[in-house]
Amino acid sequence: MTEKDFLPKPYNQFPAEGKVTWKAPSNIALVKYWGKRANQVPANPSVSFTLDACATTTSVSFTRKEGVSPISFDLFFEGSPKEDFKPKIQTFFDRIEEYLPFIKQYHLKIETSNSFPHSSGIASSASGMAALALCLVDIERELNSEMPQVFFNRKASFLARLGSGSACRSIEGDLIQWGAYKGIPESSDLYGIKYPFKVHQAFKNFHDTILLVHKGQKQVSSSVGHNLMHNHPYADRRFNQAHENLDKLKDVFEQGDLTEFINIVESEALTLHAMMMTSMPYFILMKPDTLEIINKIWDYRAATKLPICFTLDAGANVHVLYPESVKEKAIQFIKDELVAHCENGHYICDRIGAGARRLG
Ligand code: PMV
Repeated sequence: MTEKDFLPKPYNQFPAEGKVTWKAPSNIALVKYWGKRANQVPANPSVSFTLDACATTTSVSFTRKEGVSPISFDLFFEGSPKEDFKPKIQTFFDRIEEYLPFIKQYHLKIETSNSFPHSSGIASSASGMAALALCLVDIERELNSEMPQVFFNRKASFLARLGSGSACRSIEGDLIQWGAYKGIPESSDLYGIKYPFKVHQAFKNFHDTILLVHKGQKQVSSSVGHNLMHNHPYADRRFNQAHENLDKLKDVFEQGDLTEFINIVESEALTLHAMMMTSMPYFILMKPDTLEIINKIWDYRAATKLPICFTLDAGANVHVLYPESVKEKAIQFIKDELVAHCENGHYICDRIGAGARRLG
């Protein structure tokens, strides 16, 4: 599919008003997206676990206006008007307007809230943009009536990507691939798809305990980080490595090879951070507690042989990943050894999830 496939057919009905509500989860990349071209086209393919507990719930109420006029909307975050979120949403609307022309014919009221505290250092852009995109495509479905489910999901993912790249992986569960990759002919730079190959039972109920090492604003925004991959001395090698890791993961997922899974996932996390350390300007996004946690996970794994590993996003927090089969031991270890390294002892127990849900 190309961008043109997401331009709508003429609408056949214009209800006077309505309201839709969606809850969309966050996701955690196993092979990382880091570096992009214009319009959030990724420099390399990625794959992620869809999460469950960390989610955004968004309602969009729509009221028909007289004729067509510039986009108009109100924004409420956790019940209160939120003016400082508006420019980001306005930019998103400007980008997606040609794919959803109805947004100029309605006044929109957006009400959004997160399941996790705003100040937790967990980025809400993936779940937030996914929930908003789903609401908007759902409204379009009311105007167009005929919209197959596969197309619905693809268009929601396509639009979410234009809001925040990794948001395109937050529509469906439980393992999502995004970015053109020769090993998956139906893969696309434009939207995420369900990982199409066999996935062993060992990966079915994976857990992700998110250790909140540093809850403040991220030191470097992801858009600044992506841009640092332009003219980065190691960029091309890194982009190829992502393809190679996807090649390797095919057998890993099929056979339930947790040892090789850990090698790939931890290497991906450290490579993301290595890219930040070797860019110009350069950044260290980890904190001392991030390294303490990583070393404790390595020591624990060496001592117990249990398949517990970590990944990182572009910040200091640590995602501890482990299969259902070691859940009790992993949680005990986290409480005994790792929580002391979290800011105010805070962490979030999440797990792999089934994707976004319509709530109304
Ligand atoms: O979607 P963005 O632009 O916030 O970028 C996300 C980048 C990482 O979280 C670091 C990696 C990924 O693939 O999600």
